[in-house]
Amino acid sequence: MHPNLSFEQAPPLAVPLRFFLTAPWFGVAAGLLLVIAGDDAFASRFSPSILAVTHLLTTGFMLQAMCGALLQFIPVATGANVIHLEWLTKFIQPMLTFASLVLAAGFLRMQPMLFTVASVLFLLAGLGFVAIVSLALWQTPGSGMTLLALRGAVIALGVTLLLGAALAMTLAFGVEVPLLAMIEVHLAWGLAGWALLLLAAVSWIVVPMFQLTPAYPPAFSRGFLWLLPGAVLLLSVAALVNSERLLDTSRLILLLIGASHAVLTLNLQRRRRRKLPDVTLNFFRLAMTSLLAFALLGAAALAFPALADLPRYAIGLGVLALVGVFASAICGMLYKIVPFLGWLHLQRLGAPLSAVPNMKGMLAEIAKQRQLALHGLALLLLLVAVIWPGWLRAAGLTLMLSMAALGANLYTAAHRYVRFRDRIRATGSDQE
Ligand code: HEM
Repeated sequence: MHPNLSFEQAPPLAVPLRFFLTAPWFGVAAGLLLVIAGDDAFASRFSPSILAVTHLLTTGFMLQAMCGALLQFIPVATGANVIHLEWLTKFIQPMLTFASLVLAAGFLRMQPMLFTVASVLFLLAGLGFVAIVSLALWQTPGSGMTLLALRGAVIALGVTLLLGAALAMTLAFGVEVPLLAMIEVHLAWGLAGWALLLLAAVSWIVVPMFQLTPAYPPAFSRGFLWLLPGAVLLLSVAALVNSERLLDTSRLILLLIGASHAVLTLNLQRRRRRKLPDVTLNFFRLAMTSLLAFALLGAAALAFPALADLPRYAIGLGVLALVGVFASAICGMLYKIVPFLGWLHLQRLGAPLSAVPNMKGMLAEIAKQRQLALHGLALLLLLVAVIWPGWLRAAGLTLMLSMAALGANLYTAAHRYVRFRDRIRATGSDQE
């Protein structure tokens, strides 16, 4: 077990679980939308259906999973105490869920009213979430790179939501702004500042701990921690002053940071101490390979700008980032977090160890492997559809099936936890 982790402060299981169990159904909705829209979805990166799919994945699937993971991770890795948990479960999580659905509907219908409602909901619930976790992250006496990275990621989430709401208002009311530049700044804060920084911070602890690899070199984490937010800030300034050279420099730095995180993680995994097959490890390998492919494709367009003008070039990058990098890493992470939390909370009930199933007993290996196969196939078909959009319906259907399988697997693990908990309580050994 990692020496600096404190499981004493972990929130009740129901809090992160609510986020985790909701997340996959946004992925199902994204797949369904691709099936309904067919080839049209990939007609342009700004087609209504692709924007709706993008946000079902980012503000739906990713945001729910990452907020849940953050609530669990903050107390455990930094010793900070997240308070107002009832606000999170009663208001913030349901509002985020609803906001994401309304935003997707807004993109599909291009209706100002829907954009306005979604923006207000995101500002209330999203910034409410940011405020609650910030309170914990800034009040803790803890220190270290993980804490700094989590603070940075949470700030970036706040900025992403603000920029997203501003963009939505721009679309709703037809305000004249440099839209493309604003979109690039929004997605840099969202995908690099929030999502990649959080993924890296969690990986620094979770990869060595669960995958038994050597630790990430502290100098690497330190460099990552300053360079990544620095590059996102540089990109924002470059967009503001409209400097193509600065924009290219910041894009290049971001691509290099992403590629080096991917190469280092793959290399650490190659040197892991126990060479047993593991589903999370394979999900992470897929995520890191996709990150490397994203960086190479991005760098290719910096060297040959004509590439970026190809109609579906940006869509290819989007598929690699959202499904390849983040969805893969999240699936892998959820398969460790959910059974582990179930096991941890059962142990705390004070039952004899023989009465508590181990992590494999919480969720069968074969069920995870099947979902990994479906997820890998969905990613492959989506990439094929970038070149031949005729494959998009098959890709959407596979994504739907994969996300539904994830949802079913997480539900099974949660259900087993409840069954064992009730059985342990019935035997009267509950000490909580
Ligand atoms: C975690 C949060 C978010 C992430 C990671 C994210 C990601 C993205 C991405 C990747 C794009 C670019 C699509 C493209 O260039 O093809 C985009 C565009 C956009 N996003 Fe978000 N987004 C987030 C939250 C939001 C929120 C909360 C809103 C509104 C309330 C929003 C509104 C928009 C709008 C209006 C666009 C531009 C659409 C257009 O092309 O006209 N986003 N976002």
